[in-house]
Amino acid sequence: MLRLFLTMTNIETVERTAQVALDEIRQAAPSELDALRVKYLGRKGLVTAFLTGLGAMDPDRRAAFGKAANVARGRVEAALQSRLTEAGSPAGGRPGFDASLPGRRTYPGTRHPITHTMEEIVSIFARMGFVVADGPDVETDYYNFEALNFPPDHPARDMQDTFFLDGDLLLRTHTSPVQIRSFKKRQPPVKIVAPGRSYRSEAINARSYCLFHQVEGFYVDRDVTFGDLKGVLWAFARAYFGADVQLRFRPSFFPFTEPSTEVDVSCYLCAGKGCGLCKYEGWLEILGAGMIDPAVYAHVGYDPDEVSGYAFGMGVERIAMLRYRIDDIRLLYENDVRFLQQFTF
Ligand code: PHE
Repeated sequence: MLRLFLTMTNIETVERTAQVALDEIRQAAPSELDALRVKYLGRKGLVTAFLTGLGAMDPDRRAAFGKAANVARGRVEAALQSRLTEAGSPAGGRPGFDASLPGRRTYPGTRHPITHTMEEIVSIFARMGFVVADGPDVETDYYNFEALNFPPDHPARDMQDTFFLDGDLLLRTHTSPVQIRSFKKRQPPVKIVAPGRSYRSEAINARSYCLFHQVEGFYVDRDVTFGDLKGVLWAFARAYFGADVQLRFRPSFFPFTEPSTEVDVSCYLCAGKGCGLCKYEGWLEILGAGMIDPAVYAHVGYDPDEVSGYAFGMGVERIAMLRYRIDDIRLLYENDVRFLQQFTF
């Protein structure tokens, strides 16, 4: 007790304690500064102790000792404050805050690559005068097949391709039923782009999934030709893939278009040289299209002698996979943030 008293009242000790404190503060990591504040300036701190001891002291020694203790407290406080300021802490300091640590990265949400791709496709067609429309995912046989001129025994109507629901309902297997719904509501000229989901009961693998997205487009007016269709698809391909893109039109068949075509785009990855993505063909199929069959006009009350038109339906996943070099369609549906975080649109 005597030693403690002597120690506590010795001005040199005050100064030495302050010096030790200053050394420690200088060498401390920012995260240790708060512990040092407690150690020296806290309620039971080593510098505080000199001041709380004052009351019990000889009045004639008290003034000089008190002054030394106050100076020590001031220096320790200032040293702590300057270390905290240097560490970027706001005035007053925040306990436990270490501005020297690396920041925590935040990941703001972004559009899903499918949403983004669909929006880009739609906006290109919107610039060419197409108006956006949509239709329900749950359709009837009439809109999905019958009005589109699918014969009753067409293989696409098979259970293996189509998800049938209760009664007459099914999940649409393509966005083409929006053609019928739009034609029934409007009179030509009709120039529409319709993005949406389609569903097919397919084996799931790297290239196909049970649902996918399409952008349907169609234009009916007087004297619309196959040349107009080619022109609009070329304009789209150049706007989306760039000036160097190549298109290949192959003859095909759809019940609701005649003539029909399937269109390939030169493989974005290998520029047509051949790679794994395009199965060494140099080409990837991205859409089906054709001149709308007169049998469709019969269902919607248009006069095939007065009007003509084209339609196309493109696969959004295919286009996104090409553009972003995604080699497995399932990545687009698993919502693995490690995959999604790579897209910062
Ligand atoms: N609906 C067709 C499909 O899903 C694509 C298509 C649309 C073809 C419009 C011609 C016209 O395969």
